[in-house]
Amino acid sequence: MSEAQERAWGELAPRYVIDVPRDAAATSILPDSQIDPAAVWGRDAPLIVEIGSGQGHAIVHAASSRPDVDFLAIEVFRAGLARTMLDADRAGAGNLRLVEANAPEVLEHLLPAASVDELWVFFPDPWHKKKHTKRRLVTGEFAAVAATALKDGGVLRLATDWEDYAVQMRDVMTGAGDFEPAFTGEWAPRFDGRVLTAFERKGARVGRDIRDLAYRRRARS
Ligand SMILES: C[S@@+](CC[C@H](N)C(=O)[O-])C[C@H]1O[C@@H](n2cnc3c(N)ncnc32)[C@H](O)[C@@H]1O
Repeated sequence: MSEAQERAWGELAPRYVIDVPRDAAATSILPDSQIDPAAVWGRDAPLIVEIGSGQGHAIVHAASSRPDVDFLAIEVFRAGLARTMLDADRAGAGNLRLVEANAPEVLEHLLPAASVDELWVFFPDPWHKKKHTKRRLVTGEFAAVAATALKDGGVLRLATDWEDYAVQMRDVMTGAGDFEPAFTGEWAPRFDGRVLTAFERKGARVGRDIRDLAYRRRARS
């Protein structure tokens, strides 16, 4: 991290970053480490969670424009979290919290079941080389932990600029019995709650189509 980011971490982390018990790995979450969202945010409000929030552009914008909603950014990249806190502080986004952790473990072990209203995954690492595609985040196992964390009727929003990952996401979600599409046709319309980030801009600049998808969690029986 840069010196400014180190300073931001020291000053702002106590206010923004949720301190979590770790398992073996540095970005892991110890099983059974559930938080109480009402205690963390100090109120009962809808909760939107962004996975892989990067520099935090999308979530800081969303949190500062929707003060009635609580937001959680999940990232493994500490410098990105420092940048996010600096921007959140400038924007006065007191409804935003951050967690430095591997996202599937946050969904499985940190957030209570059926506690999330929306889950956002925008431009996840594409791992586009054939030998690396198995590292991609959006898989059947991911759909299962997303279904656990989302409330009935909650929405999972996905976006990518890698066509074969977009197709993989759609195939995974079509096979995930807990979800139904929240769009008609081939792809969802661009989610207008998403600000343009460097990743989206770069994909568009090199001529890649940006694909959005949205799936609603079916009611638990
Ligand atoms: C390509 S970047 C996109 C960042 C941001 N969503 C945007 O559109 O600008 C993907 C981000 O996901 C984060 N990431 C990758 N795997 C993760 C995981 N398992 N848990 C949490 N964050 C992860 C990376 O550190 C990186 O910042």
